[in-house]
Amino acid sequence: MAVVTESSVNSAASNKVWRQEESTPFVEIKQVTKKFDDFAAVKNVSLDVYKNELFCLLGGSGSGKSTLLRMLAGFESPTSGEIIIDGVDMSGIPPWERPINMMFQSYALFPHLSVEANVAFGLKRQRIANVEVKRRVADIIDMVQLGHLAKRKPHMLSGGQRQRVALARALVKRPKLLLLDEPLGALDKKLREETQFELMRLQEELGITFIVVTHDQEEAMTLSTRIGVMDNGVIVQTAEPHQVYEFPSNRYVAEFIGNVNMFEGHVFSDERDCVIIQSDDVLGQIQVNHGISCVPNQKVAVAVRPEKIRISRTMPDSDKNRAQGKISDIAYMGGQSIFKVMLDSEKEIRVTQPNVARFIEDRLTWEDQVYVSWDPDSCVVLTS
Ligand SMILES: Nc1ncnc2c1ncn2[C@@H]1O[C@H](COP(=O)(O)OP(=O)(O)OP(=O)(O)O)[C@@H](O)[C@H]1O
Ligand SMILES: [Mg+2]
Repeated sequence: MAVVTESSVNSAASNKVWRQEESTPFVEIKQVTKKFDDFAAVKNVSLDVYKNELFCLLGGSGSGKSTLLRMLAGFESPTSGEIIIDGVDMSGIPPWERPINMMFQSYALFPHLSVEANVAFGLKRQRIANVEVKRRVADIIDMVQLGHLAKRKPHMLSGGQRQRVALARALVKRPKLLLLDEPLGALDKKLREETQFELMRLQEELGITFIVVTHDQEEAMTLSTRIGVMDNGVIVQTAEPHQVYEFPSNRYVAEFIGNVNMFEGHVFSDERDCVIIQSDDVLGQIQVNHGISCVPNQKVAVAVRPEKIRISRTMPDSDKNRAQGKISDIAYMGGQSIFKVMLDSEKEIRVTQPNVARFIEDRLTWEDQVYVSWDPDSCVVLTS
């Protein structure tokens, strides 16, 4: 389950430079397309990333995330379009002359070098005093919790430990822009969370701008100042995590980020800040408290998150935004329970409820007849 935590509202986010019109982007991607023969892996992408952002690129496999990063780093060049970093047009500038470091999805460590020598390697080419190199390497190795393994060679490490060496190697150079392609994929849940916090701390301390690729939506929700959702070579939505979750721009985004119930229907009436949808899925009408641009009778979907739906045995007061059904499945998840409800229309929906009390006399169970309902402010109309 994707959640918006305090950490997604970190100090960089609180500035929200991307909301201010006069802000100058640090990275400007302008109408960039990348073709491999006839196949366009990235299609006319435009994106601005601001200094000190921790921007997550999120999307399914093959959606073009790595290709976009590789163009930023200079390992691929755009078929058309422009990339500008810190005010400088990057066309023709080789990777090593860009103010960038990249951790690849499939990274390679030097097999004959120890952990600390691998991390130090990147610094050797910069003119930095030996003591300073030693200090920075030791600091960063501690940060990724490999201090006790600093003398080991890569073949003596686990997959997750090797990934942390690669991460340390990318961080130690303190580039202005750090591109991380699935940096935490091989870490277990606890270490992954700790490393996420470390990344956020580093970003604040060192003022590095991060662009991180992940296909873990929860990670993107926790980590990022903003998220760009990619589908099929296109960025379909760029927004802050809570906006992507609460106001997905289309069905793909709604379904990709977290669980969602989708009610199909058509526009019954359309006012300025409210829409009524007639839906066979609920055998009734749904009211949504925001405006949309649509034509009369247009087919649309209404997306409602499982935690926004209430279950009751008694009929809700409003004749809209409700449906009747029977509980078809229950999963107890500790902090919350997931109910599946088979509606009278034969559409099955998902409802999550926090488990607040330990003993409930009238606990809902399989086959119970129930009503489900939700507020007009808790759902969103999707027109595409
Ligand atoms: N050098 C290449 N030649 C031809 N096609 C390529 C090349 N590199 C990538 N592609 C294709 O471009 C598309 C996008 O690939 P990309 O690696 O950017 O996806 P991705 O979003 O990073 O996916 P994943 O999450 O699986 O890493 C894919 O269909 C891939 O097969
Ligand atoms: Mg990739």
